[in-house]
Amino acid sequence: MDSFLIQGGTPLRGEVTISGSKNAVLPLMAAALLTKDTCVIRNVPDLSDVRFMVKILESLGADVAFEAGTLTVRCARIKGFGDYDLIRKMRGSICILGPLLTRLHEASVSLPGGCVIGTRPIDLHLKGLVALGAKLDIEGGYIRAKTKGLKGTTIFLGGRAGPTVLGTANIMMAAALADGVTVIESAACEPEVCDVANFLVSMGAKITGIGSPTLTITGVKELHGTDYEVIPDRIEACTFICAAAATKGDVIIHGARPEHFAAVLDKLREAGVKVERKAGALRVTRPGKLKPADVTTLPYSGFPTDVQAQFMALMTLAPGISVITERIFESRFMHVAELMRLGADVAIEGPSAIVKGGKPLSGAPVMASDLRASAALVIAGLAAKGTTQVHRIYHLDRGYERMEDKLRKLGAKIERVDGE
Ligand code: UD1
Repeated sequence: MDSFLIQGGTPLRGEVTISGSKNAVLPLMAAALLTKDTCVIRNVPDLSDVRFMVKILESLGADVAFEAGTLTVRCARIKGFGDYDLIRKMRGSICILGPLLTRLHEASVSLPGGCVIGTRPIDLHLKGLVALGAKLDIEGGYIRAKTKGLKGTTIFLGGRAGPTVLGTANIMMAAALADGVTVIESAACEPEVCDVANFLVSMGAKITGIGSPTLTITGVKELHGTDYEVIPDRIEACTFICAAAATKGDVIIHGARPEHFAAVLDKLREAGVKVERKAGALRVTRPGKLKPADVTTLPYSGFPTDVQAQFMALMTLAPGISVITERIFESRFMHVAELMRLGADVAIEGPSAIVKGGKPLSGAPVMASDLRASAALVIAGLAAKGTTQVHRIYHLDRGYERMEDKLRKLGAKIERVDGE
């Protein structure tokens, strides 16, 4: 298993370009299952999760080519039975259920896995499909779904922690080919969900209310192929901003859409980080000392749970107390113990982490536990004095395209070490 060796203490300087969004492209790839025609998806990041999804589509019978950031997917003849072990390993793979069921009237997929950040149920996905007329059985680790034809209806998709991102995408895709009108209430409003909706519209789907909590989908008989560019990854953009601020650097970020992370920019401002818009790019500097800031993760347009760990790494450097409250996933503090190895002072109190920031961090060997936790450890390692080795960075490779190359271009002393 690869690790990163980081020699901390160098301010990041230079320019970086943000890749396409992982969380948008995975459901987009699933949406390609809805048509026999060819779908071309551009600005696709080369990530292990994307490569995994390619394998899943191929195991269903799709022809897939992935070259220079462009995915070409043709699902002319597909089957509804996915490879158990492939699907089990990736959370995003649950998104194939809706498209397979609505197109083939029968689908069988294994219960999905993903990052270890909570129990991650899929009851809302299943509730939505049942409301549309699916019969479901869970047997031997598989979800087996059947229908005589899905029928539009009104579905409330809100759960304990609010709307569901992949659940909304899944039900929207199923409804695109259902008979009649489906209204999804308490739909997720994340930019990635809008991207899926826009992709479907480009295939001929009829969807209104995109970006709002009420989505109305009028089913059509068939969808056609499309040529579509994925939105930039707002979580990668926020990660690089936190890294620039943590090292007191000066970084120009190209290709990001700041309107997709206004809540993060607001908190960064409060924390003393300057993010200026300059000729279509963002310039990140930190003129003075960092200031503490309290953050609560919320569904969009609130502060994203996927930036919580990286922001916490930044707050360990801000003199004073920051309270970081996690409202989306109950076990998403796996990075805390590892940040403490670097000298951070953090106490967990229920859903909140109390960060007493300002003590200098010092390098240590640490273990990545999930995707965004890994990013937090890299940020802390870049700011720490001495050497930090981040083990198990396969988590990071799931969601960041060539992270060490991008950081090295910004002057970071970081290298990938094989097999440790
Ligand atoms: C997606 C993102 C993930 C991000 C999360 C929240 C992908 C591949 N992953 O995950 O990076 O952290 O959105 O922004 O896009 N829930 C239920 N029942 C369900 C589904 C979800 O109770 O059927 C709960 C979850 O446990 C969680 C909350 O709803 O507490 C939000 O989860 P959800 O939005 O579904 O996350 P994902 O779509 O899996």
